[in-house]
Amino acid sequence: MPFYHKLGKIPHKRHTIFKKPDGSLYREQLFGTIGFDGMSTNSYHEHHPTQVKEILGHKDVTPKIAVSTNLKSYKFHGFKTIPQPDYLDSRSTVLHNSDVSIILAAPTQSLKDYFYKNADADELLFIHKGKGKLRTHLGNLDFSYGDYLLIPRGIIYKIDFETEDNRLFIVESRRPIYTPKRYRNHFGQLLEHAPFCERDLRQPYELETNDEKGEFLIKVKKENQLFDMVYATHPFDVVGYDGYNYPYAFSIHDFEPITGRVHQPPPVHQTFETDAFVVCSFCPRLFDYHPESIPAPYNHSNIDSDEVLYYVDGDFMSRNDIEAGHLSLHPSGIPHGPHPGAVERSIGQTKTEELAVMVDTFKPLKITEEGMAIADDSYHQSWLEDNH
Ligand SMILES: [Fe+2]
Repeated sequence: MPFYHKLGKIPHKRHTIFKKPDGSLYREQLFGTIGFDGMSTNSYHEHHPTQVKEILGHKDVTPKIAVSTNLKSYKFHGFKTIPQPDYLDSRSTVLHNSDVSIILAAPTQSLKDYFYKNADADELLFIHKGKGKLRTHLGNLDFSYGDYLLIPRGIIYKIDFETEDNRLFIVESRRPIYTPKRYRNHFGQLLEHAPFCERDLRQPYELETNDEKGEFLIKVKKENQLFDMVYATHPFDVVGYDGYNYPYAFSIHDFEPITGRVHQPPPVHQTFETDAFVVCSFCPRLFDYHPESIPAPYNHSNIDSDEVLYYVDGDFMSRNDIEAGHLSLHPSGIPHGPHPGAVERSIGQTKTEELAVMVDTFKPLKITEEGMAIADDSYHQSWLEDNH
């Protein structure tokens, strides 16, 4: 997060004596990224955050690849992902490469029995269905339909759902996820032309401080292994922190679309960036207002990026047979564009209610076994005009 946040109690100076009411010391932790060169947070704990009791074992969660080289467009039926009680068990990786995993999840219960920490990757959770609270060692965030939750790598968290019917679209990124640099000035502040501003980004507001000792299970994901680590102190024992590295929330409904007289290119929808992929939000908006404009997108060939679209809500005007919860993959190497009839259908329309999240990756994506289990294998032929 490129701006400063402070929560709870912190001492006047970094790296100085900070005493508890009983005269003993709070324990400081600098939580940094990219060595000491990236964003960091200084947190103050009831106990040393280093007290590992046991590493009990680990489980391999490497995605099983079914299609490793691909030139076919695919559609996946995201809502066919089977709901499961446990948050981690419910996560199903559909697409994967060395930078990013695209995951669908339908957890029916809150994560209560253990804590979770992804040491490999930043996690971007998009809440398609569900309502609840993300609880982290750096404070809590409420979430509901349409929220992105950005959880930087290493944040220890739990997730509470008020609902049973939860649908999450998750982007797990081994490259740090930032707001786009072109939206920011050289101080890091979001510029006037950006489709959102700092006011739209919600910071953790509620710190849970627990000074309990005992046995606390944290499942730590590292190199695609899920380690069972037992801590001797409660992982949520922070009394205060400040810095730039913390989880935050942003609602897709707060994204202000940029429109024009003629069709605007996908980068106007950009929401997040990494050096390996971008994330864009397609939101309800007015269509292009040139009298001769064609609101449907033109055919395009991003020769060197795979395009993943997750359809959230509304009528997606450029596609036929697309419903909420569908996921499409348009791979690099071939052009893609509107379905037959979509161009004509779009002419004269003044607005769209579509809501979708797009992830464009620079490296090709592999399709997993879980992905193929929900794939529509004939989608790549759905542009043939003779079929319609
Ligand atoms: Fe596209």
